[in-house]
Formats: sequence, structure tokens, C-alpha cells
Amino acid sequence: MLRVTNISKQFQSGDNVVKAVQDVRLSVPEGVFASIIGQSGSGKSTLLSLLGALDQPTAGSIVVDGSDIAKMSDNQLIRYRRDKIGYVFQAYNLIPNLSALENVMLPMELAGLSRGKRRLRAVELLEQVGLDATKHTRQPSRLSGGEQQRVAIARALANRPKLILADEPTGNLDSATGKIIVALLHDLAASEHTTIIAVTHDQQIAKQAALTFKLADGKLVQV
Ligand SMILES: Nc1ncnc2c1ncn2[C@@H]1O[C@H](COP(=O)(O)OP(=O)(O)O)[C@@H](O)[C@H]1O
Ligand SMILES: [Mg+2]
Repeated sequence: MLRVTNISKQFQSGDNVVKAVQDVRLSVPEGVFASIIGQSGSGKSTLLSLLGALDQPTAGSIVVDGSDIAKMSDNQLIRYRRDKIGYVFQAYNLIPNLSALENVMLPMELAGLSRGKRRLRAVELLEQVGLDATKHTRQPSRLSGGEQQRVAIARALANRPKLILADEPTGNLDSATGKIIVALLHDLAASEHTTIIAVTHDQQIAKQAALTFKLADGKLVQV
């Protein structure tokens, strides 16, 4: 479902050129849980932003679900990010002044779903990720880290994406909570047939992934 052919990304930093991603080629089949590992600075986050069309590669092509990201117009890119991809970040990135429920409803509003439908699906998703019903109306600051990440996962699933991209999703969680969150991602990938690519430092996550890609200095060194 995802095919990356020789992508590179360079950043200009003063007089220096930083080769954050170099000539990476990889494929991930549909419904698979894949992980990306590597030391800090090895290019993991950069690679993930390229896959999610949050940034553009300097060279190479990325084909997701049959479409080449580089050939999309700005409007197509907006739709691609909104409809095809769910993003999960280490810092959760929930909107602070919205409740858990409203955070999950937001992507569906952008996709044009009616208020009633948004609400219904958001409640269903929050149940699915195991957030207690009494907490649905709470703002993120009144939820634990693990609970916030559950909300972020529910939000990522809202528009039934084909692909979930998670950048160190357990990075701010204790190891027991991290395990639960990973199990949750696993179950979702299996039941919704969603492809998941997770950047991680966590050996446990990497071990559970069907496919693991290791980066060093921007290069893919091991699959
Ligand atoms: N916007 C940017 N401008 C300049 N350099 C960047 C930028 N983003 C990342 N880099 C550099 O690219 C390399 C890879 O970074 P990153 O993808 O964040 O690594 P990782 O997620 O594996 O820690 C690092 O050397 C980093 O400093
Ligand atoms: Mg990173």
C-alpha cells in the first residue's frame, strides 16, 4: 500500500547541507504494523513527515494507495492528509481548549460530516480506545498522558485512514501504559485493516512489528 523509491531529503542549515534522509527505498503492505528505529538524529521523524506529506522530498517518489504524492495538487494534498492519513505524535498534540470528544470530532468536521454523525462516531471511537465515558467532556489538561494518547489515536482514526503514522507514540508514557497503547495500535491495525508505521525507541514495539526498518545517518541500514 506504500512504496517509497529512493527518497532523499536535505536541509540547508547555514552553509551546511544536512542529509536527513538519503536514498531510502522501502515498501509496506496493506494492514501491516511496521516500525522505524534508529538513533536520535538518524532521520526517522523526517522520513515520517515525508510519508505523511507534511514535507516534500528533495528526490524520489512516494506512492500511497496507488497515488504518487509528488503529483498531487495542493487541494489533493489537503485531502490526502485529511482522509488517508492519521497522525499520532509523542506530545499528543491535542487542541487544549477542546474536550476529548471535540478533538475527535474535529477531523470529521473538516471532512464535512454532519454534527450528529461526528458525535456518534467520536463517542464510538473513544469507547473503542478505552476512554472512560465520564472523561469524554474533559479537556486534555485534565487527562493523564496515556488517556491523551488514547484520544489522539481515536482522532487519528476518525476519518478511517488507510495509514497511521505514529512518531514515538509511547515516548512520553511509562512502560506499562506504553504497552497498552501499542497493543491498542496493534488491535486497530488488525481489525480495521489499517497500515501503521511507528517510529520508536522502544524495543518492545519494534519486536512486535511485522516489519522493522533501521535508519543510520539518514540511510536505511537494515530491514
Ligand atoms: N527543519 C530542519 N532543518 C535543518 N535540519 C533538520 C531539520 N529537521 C531535521 N533536521 C536534521 O536532520 C537530521 C534528522 O533529524 P530527525 O529526522 O528529526 O531525526 P530523528 O527523528 O531520527 O531523531 C538531524 O541531523 C536533524 O538535525
Ligand atoms: Mg524524531
